Amino acid sequence: MIFAIFVPVGYCFTPQQLTPEPTLASVLSRQPYRLSTLSMQPFHKAVEQEFTAVNTLIVSQLQSDVGLVENIGQYIVEAGGKRLRPVVVLLSALANGYKGEEHLKMAAVIEFIHTATLLHDDVVDVSSLRRGRQTANAQWGNAPSVLVGDFLYSRAFQMLVEIAHMPIMGVMANATNVISEGEVQQMANAGNPEITEDIYRQVIYRKTAKLFEAAAQVGACLAGTDQNAMIVYGKHLGMAFQIADDVLDYQGDIDITGKNIGSDLAEGKMTLPLIYARDNAAEKDAKLIRNAIGEKSADNFGAILEIVKSHGGLSYSLQQATREVELAKYALTDMPASEYKSVLLDLADFSISRVS
Ligand code: IPE
Ligand code: IPE
Ligand code: MG
Ligand code: MG
Repeated sequence: MIFAIFVPVGYCFTPQQLTPEPTLASVLSRQPYRLSTLSMQPFHKAVEQEFTAVNTLIVSQLQSDVGLVENIGQYIVEAGGKRLRPVVVLLSALANGYKGEEHLKMAAVIEFIHTATLLHDDVVDVSSLRRGRQTANAQWGNAPSVLVGDFLYSRAFQMLVEIAHMPIMGVMANATNVISEGEVQQMANAGNPEITEDIYRQVIYRKTAKLFEAAAQVGACLAGTDQNAMIVYGKHLGMAFQIADDVLDYQGDIDITGKNIGSDLAEGKMTLPLIYARDNAAEKDAKLIRNAIGEKSADNFGAILEIVKSHGGLSYSLQQATREVELAKYALTDMPASEYKSVLLDLADFSISRVS
Protein backbone atom coordinates (compact mmCIF):
# COMPACT_ATOMS: atom_id res chain seq x y z
CA MET A 1 0.00 0.00 0.00
CA ILE A 2 1.26 3.47 -0.85
CA PHE A 3 0.75 6.23 1.69
CA ALA A 4 0.47 9.70 0.25
CA ILE A 5 1.68 12.49 2.56
CA PHE A 6 0.07 15.81 1.84
CA VAL A 7 2.09 18.80 2.95
CA PRO A 8 -0.15 21.88 3.16
CA VAL A 9 1.11 25.14 1.67
CA GLY A 10 3.22 27.01 4.23
CA TYR A 11 3.64 23.90 6.36
CA CYS A 12 6.41 24.26 8.95
CA PHE A 13 8.97 21.62 8.02
CA THR A 14 10.85 20.27 11.06
CA PRO A 15 13.06 17.21 10.41
CA GLN A 16 15.02 15.56 13.21
CA GLN A 17 18.60 16.63 13.88
CA LEU A 18 20.86 13.60 13.91
CA THR A 19 24.34 14.91 14.73
CA PRO A 20 25.32 14.31 18.40
CA GLU A 21 25.20 17.21 20.83
CA PRO A 22 28.34 18.57 22.54
CA THR A 23 29.06 17.18 25.99
CA LEU A 24 29.47 19.41 29.03
CA ALA A 25 33.19 18.60 29.18
CA SER A 26 33.69 19.63 25.56
CA VAL A 27 31.72 22.79 26.16
CA LEU A 28 33.80 23.80 29.15
CA SER A 29 37.10 23.15 27.41
CA ARG A 30 36.26 25.59 24.59
CA GLN A 31 37.71 29.01 24.06
CA PRO A 32 36.06 31.99 25.74
CA TYR A 33 33.35 33.82 23.83
CA ARG A 34 34.11 35.39 20.49
CA LEU A 35 32.45 38.54 21.61
CA SER A 36 31.69 39.80 25.04
CA THR A 37 29.34 42.73 25.06
CA LEU A 38 27.38 43.91 28.03
CA SER A 39 24.78 45.75 26.02
CA MET A 40 22.22 45.03 23.30
CA GLN A 41 23.43 47.98 21.26
CA PRO A 42 25.55 46.01 18.74
CA PHE A 43 22.61 43.71 18.10
CA HIS A 44 20.21 46.58 17.52
CA LYS A 45 22.80 48.05 15.17
CA ALA A 46 23.17 44.79 13.23
CA VAL A 47 19.54 45.06 12.11
CA GLU A 48 19.27 48.82 12.49
CA GLN A 49 16.76 49.67 9.78
CA GLU A 50 14.43 46.82 10.62
CA PHE A 51 14.80 47.46 14.33
CA THR A 52 13.78 51.10 13.94
CA ALA A 53 10.77 50.03 11.86
CA VAL A 54 9.75 47.51 14.52
CA ASN A 55 9.92 50.13 17.27
CA THR A 56 7.76 52.49 15.23
CA LEU A 57 5.27 49.68 14.67
CA ILE A 58 5.22 48.81 18.37
CA VAL A 59 4.38 52.38 19.33
CA SER A 60 1.72 52.78 16.63
CA GLN A 61 0.07 49.46 17.53
CA LEU A 62 -0.41 50.62 21.12
CA GLN A 63 -3.11 52.94 19.86
CA SER A 64 -6.42 52.61 21.72
CA ASP A 65 -9.49 54.80 22.23
CA VAL A 66 -9.34 53.94 25.91
CA GLY A 67 -6.94 56.34 27.58
CA LEU A 68 -5.80 54.05 30.39
CA VAL A 69 -4.90 51.29 27.95
CA GLU A 70 -2.63 53.65 26.04
CA ASN A 71 -1.14 55.16 29.20
CA ILE A 72 -0.15 51.84 30.73
CA GLY A 73 0.92 50.41 27.37
CA GLN A 74 3.14 53.40 26.65
CA TYR A 75 4.48 53.43 30.20
CA ILE A 76 5.82 49.89 29.97
CA VAL A 77 6.87 49.99 26.32
CA GLU A 78 8.64 53.34 26.52
CA ALA A 79 10.57 52.22 29.59
CA GLY A 80 12.66 50.34 27.04
CA GLY A 81 13.60 46.76 27.61
CA LYS A 82 16.26 44.99 25.65
CA ARG A 83 13.94 44.05 22.75
CA LEU A 84 15.88 40.82 22.54
CA ARG A 85 13.07 38.62 21.26
CA PRO A 86 12.16 40.87 18.31
CA VAL A 87 15.86 40.95 17.39
CA VAL A 88 15.78 37.13 17.34
CA VAL A 89 12.81 37.21 14.94
CA LEU A 90 14.60 39.66 12.62
CA LEU A 91 17.91 37.81 12.66
CA SER A 92 16.27 34.45 12.17
CA ALA A 93 14.28 35.69 9.17
CA LEU A 94 17.31 37.43 7.63
CA ALA A 95 19.76 34.60 8.31
CA ASN A 96 17.30 32.28 6.56
CA GLY A 97 17.13 34.53 3.52
CA TYR A 98 13.69 36.10 4.02
CA LYS A 99 13.04 39.00 1.65
CA GLY A 100 9.55 40.23 2.63
CA GLU A 101 8.21 42.67 5.25
CA GLU A 102 6.21 40.46 7.59
CA HIS A 103 9.17 39.83 9.88
CA LEU A 104 8.74 43.40 11.14
CA LYS A 105 5.19 42.76 12.23
CA MET A 106 6.13 39.36 13.67
CA ALA A 107 8.86 40.99 15.74
CA ALA A 108 6.32 43.45 17.16
CA VAL A 109 3.88 40.60 17.85
CA ILE A 110 6.52 38.73 19.84
CA GLU A 111 7.45 41.84 21.85
CA PHE A 112 3.77 42.48 22.65
CA ILE A 113 3.34 38.94 23.91
CA HIS A 114 6.51 39.28 25.97
CA THR A 115 5.31 42.60 27.42
CA ALA A 116 1.92 41.10 28.26
CA THR A 117 3.62 38.29 30.16
CA LEU A 118 5.69 40.87 32.07
CA LEU A 119 2.57 42.81 33.12
CA HIS A 120 0.96 39.60 34.34
CA ASP A 121 4.16 38.23 35.87
CA ASP A 122 4.71 41.36 37.96
CA VAL A 123 1.21 41.04 39.39
CA VAL A 124 1.73 37.38 40.27
CA ASP A 125 5.24 38.03 41.63
CA VAL A 126 4.10 41.19 43.47
CA SER A 127 7.07 42.98 41.90
CA SER A 128 7.58 46.69 42.38
CA LEU A 129 10.41 47.47 39.96
CA ARG A 130 10.77 46.78 36.22
CA ARG A 131 12.93 48.43 33.58
CA GLY A 132 14.17 50.82 36.23
CA ARG A 133 10.68 52.11 37.01
CA GLN A 134 7.83 51.25 39.31
CA THR A 135 5.95 48.30 37.84
CA ALA A 136 2.54 49.03 36.30
CA ASN A 137 0.91 47.13 39.17
CA ALA A 138 2.72 49.31 41.69
CA GLN A 139 1.67 52.44 39.80
CA TRP A 140 -1.92 51.61 38.78
CA GLY A 141 -2.80 48.42 40.69
CA ASN A 142 -3.26 44.77 39.77
CA ALA A 143 -6.52 44.91 37.83
CA PRO A 144 -5.40 47.54 35.26
CA SER A 145 -2.11 45.65 34.76
CA VAL A 146 -3.84 42.34 34.09
CA LEU A 147 -6.36 43.95 31.74
CA VAL A 148 -3.76 45.87 29.75
CA GLY A 149 -1.75 42.64 29.56
CA ASP A 150 -4.85 41.10 27.95
CA PHE A 151 -5.03 44.06 25.56
CA LEU A 152 -1.44 43.46 24.45
CA TYR A 153 -2.05 39.73 23.98
CA SER A 154 -5.14 40.32 21.90
CA ARG A 155 -3.51 43.12 19.88
CA ALA A 156 -0.73 40.66 19.07
CA PHE A 157 -3.32 38.20 17.80
CA GLN A 158 -5.03 40.90 15.71
CA MET A 159 -1.67 41.55 14.06
CA LEU A 160 -1.18 37.83 13.51
CA VAL A 161 -4.47 37.68 11.68
CA GLU A 162 -3.22 40.47 9.40
CA ILE A 163 -0.12 38.39 8.65
CA ALA A 164 -2.57 35.57 7.83
CA HIS A 165 -0.04 32.74 7.96
CA MET A 166 -1.82 29.78 9.51
CA PRO A 167 1.27 27.75 10.56
CA ILE A 168 2.69 30.84 12.31
CA MET A 169 -0.62 31.38 14.09
CA GLY A 170 -0.32 27.79 15.25
CA VAL A 171 3.21 28.38 16.57
CA MET A 172 2.10 31.51 18.47
CA ALA A 173 -1.11 30.01 19.85
CA ASN A 174 0.88 27.05 21.11
CA ALA A 175 3.66 29.20 22.58
CA THR A 176 1.32 31.51 24.52
CA ASN A 177 -0.55 28.51 25.86
CA VAL A 178 2.67 26.85 27.06
CA ILE A 179 3.87 30.12 28.65
CA SER A 180 0.65 30.30 30.68
CA GLU A 181 1.18 26.72 31.81
CA GLY A 182 4.71 27.61 32.88
CA GLU A 183 3.57 30.59 34.92
CA VAL A 184 0.82 28.54 36.59
CA GLN A 185 3.24 25.69 37.28
CA GLN A 186 5.69 28.13 38.83
CA MET A 187 2.96 29.65 40.98
CA ALA A 188 1.93 26.19 42.16
CA ASN A 189 5.58 25.44 43.05
CA ALA A 190 6.14 28.67 44.97
CA GLY A 191 6.95 28.04 48.61
CA ASN A 192 8.00 24.44 47.92
CA PRO A 193 11.66 23.96 48.93
CA GLU A 194 11.90 20.46 47.38
CA ILE A 195 11.70 21.54 43.73
CA THR A 196 14.28 19.58 41.70
CA GLU A 197 16.50 20.77 38.86
CA ASP A 198 14.32 18.77 36.44
CA ILE A 199 11.16 20.54 37.52
CA TYR A 200 12.97 23.88 37.45
CA ARG A 201 14.03 23.20 33.85
CA GLN A 202 10.48 22.28 32.88
CA VAL A 203 9.19 25.57 34.29
CA ILE A 204 11.79 27.79 32.66
CA TYR A 205 11.36 26.06 29.34
CA ARG A 206 7.65 26.80 29.44
CA LYS A 207 7.61 30.28 30.91
CA THR A 208 10.63 31.70 29.03
CA ALA A 209 12.35 29.47 26.49
CA LYS A 210 9.16 28.70 24.59
CA LEU A 211 8.81 32.32 23.44
CA PHE A 212 12.45 32.44 22.32
CA GLU A 213 11.84 29.18 20.48
CA ALA A 214 8.79 30.66 18.76
CA ALA A 215 10.68 33.87 17.92
CA ALA A 216 13.45 31.90 16.25
CA GLN A 217 11.05 29.50 14.54
CA VAL A 218 8.80 32.09 12.91
CA GLY A 219 11.78 33.72 11.17
CA ALA A 220 12.54 30.46 9.37
CA CYS A 221 8.83 29.80 8.90
CA LEU A 222 8.46 33.13 7.05
CA ALA A 223 11.53 32.35 4.97
CA GLY A 224 10.11 28.92 4.14
CA THR A 225 13.32 27.14 5.16
CA ASP A 226 13.91 24.24 7.56
CA GLN A 227 12.86 25.36 11.02
CA ASN A 228 14.42 22.66 13.12
CA ALA A 229 17.76 24.41 13.63
CA MET A 230 16.03 27.65 14.64
CA ILE A 231 13.69 25.84 17.05
CA VAL A 232 16.63 24.20 18.81
CA TYR A 233 18.61 27.46 18.80
CA GLY A 234 15.70 29.44 20.29
CA LYS A 235 14.97 26.86 22.94
CA HIS A 236 18.53 26.75 24.26
CA LEU A 237 18.94 30.51 23.97
CA GLY A 238 15.84 30.91 26.14
CA MET A 239 17.02 28.37 28.70
CA ALA A 240 20.38 30.15 28.97
CA PHE A 241 18.65 33.51 29.20
CA GLN A 242 16.41 32.47 32.12
CA ILE A 243 19.20 30.75 34.06
CA ALA A 244 21.20 33.98 33.69
CA ASP A 245 18.17 35.95 34.89
CA ASP A 246 18.00 33.71 37.96
CA VAL A 247 21.69 34.31 38.66
CA LEU A 248 21.16 38.07 38.26
CA ASP A 249 18.40 37.86 40.84
CA TYR A 250 21.15 36.94 43.34
CA GLN A 251 24.08 38.98 42.17
CA GLY A 252 22.80 41.62 39.77
CA ASP A 253 23.03 45.35 40.27
CA ILE A 254 19.60 46.89 40.75
CA ASP A 255 20.72 50.09 38.98
CA ILE A 256 21.63 48.08 35.89
CA THR A 257 19.00 45.33 35.83
CA GLY A 258 16.25 47.78 36.75
CA LYS A 259 14.70 44.99 38.85
CA ASN A 260 14.85 44.18 42.55
CA ILE A 261 17.48 41.73 43.75
CA GLY A 262 16.44 38.83 45.98
CA SER A 263 12.91 38.80 44.63
CA ASP A 264 12.96 35.09 43.75
CA LEU A 265 13.73 34.21 47.37
CA ALA A 266 11.00 36.57 48.58
CA GLU A 267 8.57 34.89 46.17
CA GLY A 268 9.51 31.40 47.42
CA LYS A 269 11.01 30.44 44.03
CA MET A 270 13.49 27.59 44.08
CA THR A 271 15.76 28.64 41.19
CA LEU A 272 18.93 26.87 40.04
CA PRO A 273 21.50 28.67 42.26
CA LEU A 274 19.42 27.79 45.30
CA ILE A 275 18.62 24.23 44.22
CA TYR A 276 22.32 23.51 43.81
CA ALA A 277 23.22 25.11 47.14
CA ARG A 278 20.43 23.22 48.96
CA ASP A 279 21.71 19.91 47.59
CA ASN A 280 25.35 20.60 48.42
CA ALA A 281 25.23 22.51 51.69
CA ALA A 282 25.41 21.10 55.21
CA GLU A 283 22.12 20.28 56.93
CA LYS A 284 21.99 23.56 58.85
CA ASP A 285 22.50 25.73 55.78
CA ALA A 286 20.10 23.67 53.68
CA LYS A 287 17.53 24.18 56.43
CA LEU A 288 17.94 27.95 56.28
CA ILE A 289 17.25 27.78 52.53
CA ARG A 290 14.22 25.51 52.98
CA ASN A 291 12.76 27.75 55.67
CA ALA A 292 13.20 30.92 53.60
CA ILE A 293 11.45 29.31 50.64
CA GLY A 294 8.69 27.86 52.83
CA GLU A 295 8.08 31.25 54.40
CA LYS A 296 8.60 33.17 51.12
CA SER A 297 10.91 35.49 52.96
CA ALA A 298 14.07 37.32 51.92
CA ASP A 299 14.86 38.30 55.53
CA ASN A 300 17.97 36.09 55.46
CA PHE A 301 18.98 37.04 51.91
CA GLY A 302 22.53 38.04 52.92
CA ALA A 303 23.23 34.76 54.73
CA ILE A 304 21.62 32.69 51.98
CA LEU A 305 23.61 34.50 49.28
CA GLU A 306 26.78 33.54 51.14
CA ILE A 307 25.66 29.89 51.27
CA VAL A 308 24.78 29.95 47.58
CA LYS A 309 28.16 31.45 46.69
CA SER A 310 30.25 29.25 48.94
CA HIS A 311 28.63 26.07 47.62
CA GLY A 312 29.10 27.08 43.99
CA GLY A 313 25.42 27.69 43.26
CA LEU A 314 26.15 30.67 41.03
CA SER A 315 29.07 29.11 39.17
CA TYR A 316 27.16 25.85 38.68
CA SER A 317 24.24 27.81 37.24
CA LEU A 318 26.49 29.74 34.89
CA GLN A 319 28.07 26.47 33.82
CA GLN A 320 24.65 25.10 32.97
CA ALA A 321 23.77 28.32 31.16
CA THR A 322 27.02 28.04 29.20
CA ARG A 323 26.07 24.56 28.12
CA GLU A 324 22.73 25.89 26.87
CA VAL A 325 24.57 28.62 24.94
CA GLU A 326 26.81 26.05 23.29
CA LEU A 327 23.80 23.90 22.38
CA ALA A 328 22.14 26.96 20.85
CA LYS A 329 25.21 27.72 18.76
CA TYR A 330 25.67 24.09 17.82
CA ALA A 331 22.16 24.04 16.39
CA LEU A 332 23.32 26.47 13.71
CA THR A 333 26.21 24.28 12.55
CA ASP A 334 24.68 23.55 9.15
CA MET A 335 23.34 27.05 8.53
CA PRO A 336 25.21 28.76 5.70
CA ALA A 337 27.66 31.40 6.94
CA SER A 338 26.41 35.00 6.85
CA GLU A 339 26.70 38.19 8.84
CA TYR A 340 23.29 37.48 10.40
CA LYS A 341 24.36 34.01 11.43
CA SER A 342 27.41 35.47 13.21
CA VAL A 343 25.14 37.86 15.07
CA LEU A 344 22.89 34.98 16.13
CA LEU A 345 25.98 33.24 17.53
CA ASP A 346 27.05 36.41 19.35
CA LEU A 347 23.54 36.84 20.72
CA ALA A 348 23.78 33.40 22.31
CA ASP A 349 26.93 34.52 24.14
CA PHE A 350 25.26 37.74 25.18
CA SER A 351 22.35 35.88 26.78
CA ILE A 352 24.62 35.00 29.68
CA SER A 353 27.32 37.67 29.60
CA ARG A 354 24.66 40.35 29.98
CA VAL A 355 24.34 42.41 33.14
CA SER A 356 20.76 43.51 32.62
C1 IPE B 1 12.42 39.46 31.54
O1 IPE B 1 12.83 39.46 30.21
C2 IPE B 1 11.63 38.24 31.81
C3 IPE B 1 12.42 37.00 31.72
C4 IPE B 1 12.12 36.04 30.92
C5 IPE B 1 13.56 36.84 32.58
P1 IPE B 1 13.85 40.55 29.64
O2 IPE B 1 15.05 40.58 30.51
O3 IPE B 1 14.05 40.29 28.20
O4 IPE B 1 13.03 41.88 29.86
P2 IPE B 1 13.16 43.28 29.10
O5 IPE B 1 12.20 43.22 27.96
O6 IPE B 1 14.57 43.46 28.65
O7 IPE B 1 12.74 44.29 30.13
C1 IPE C 1 10.17 35.26 33.79
O1 IPE C 1 10.49 34.97 35.09
C2 IPE C 1 8.75 35.63 33.68
C3 IPE C 1 8.11 35.53 32.40
C4 IPE C 1 8.33 34.62 31.52
C5 IPE C 1 7.10 36.54 32.14
P1 IPE C 1 10.87 36.00 36.20
O2 IPE C 1 9.74 36.21 37.14
O3 IPE C 1 12.17 35.57 36.78
O4 IPE C 1 11.09 37.33 35.39
P2 IPE C 1 11.46 38.70 36.07
O5 IPE C 1 12.71 38.49 36.87
O6 IPE C 1 10.28 39.10 36.88
O7 IPE C 1 11.71 39.62 34.89
MG1 MG D 1 8.91 37.99 37.89
MG1 MG E 1 13.74 36.94 37.43
